[in-house]
Amino acid sequence: MKIEKELLKALNNQINLEFVSAYLYLSLELSFANMNLDGIAEWLKKQAQEELEHAENLMRYMLDNCCCVELKDIAAPPIICGTPLELFEIAYEHEQKVTDSLKSIAKKADAIQDFITLNLMREYLIEQVEEEHKIYNIISKIRLENESNCSILFLDKELSCCK
Ligand SMILES: [Fe+2]
Repeated sequence: MKIEKELLKALNNQINLEFVSAYLYLSLELSFANMNLDGIAEWLKKQAQEELEHAENLMRYMLDNCCCVELKDIAAPPIICGTPLELFEIAYEHEQKVTDSLKSIAKKADAIQDFITLNLMREYLIEQVEEEHKIYNIISKIRLENESNCSILFLDKELSCCK
């Protein structure tokens, strides 16, 4: 199936954004590993892997439609320093950007009646609900811990055993 030119460009940009997301999670993983919070670091590593899968699935979709995938430069993430709360807030803000990007592709697909791409974007957007929620959930827990002077070590332990 032929994918319209503007939509192709947007999908290529989305592939790049998925790689940028993976890079951001890797950078966050390193920040937490530096704090010896290995459970959180491990969890972030899994998120980075998930982002690579998102990119791979989009590339597969384009190949299946005989389209050229254009790999672009992956912007280096900033060296991230900060409290655990600040670090997860960066991740949350980034996930919101990803959601906006997917919505804009869905709108384009809808406008030109490319229902298959629209459907794919729906799947990605449904997953984004979960992605944003996961991060927001962690942020809420850290805020609660900060208020009650509990230790981030509880969260480190909790994330070490979940996806
Ligand atoms: Fe993603």
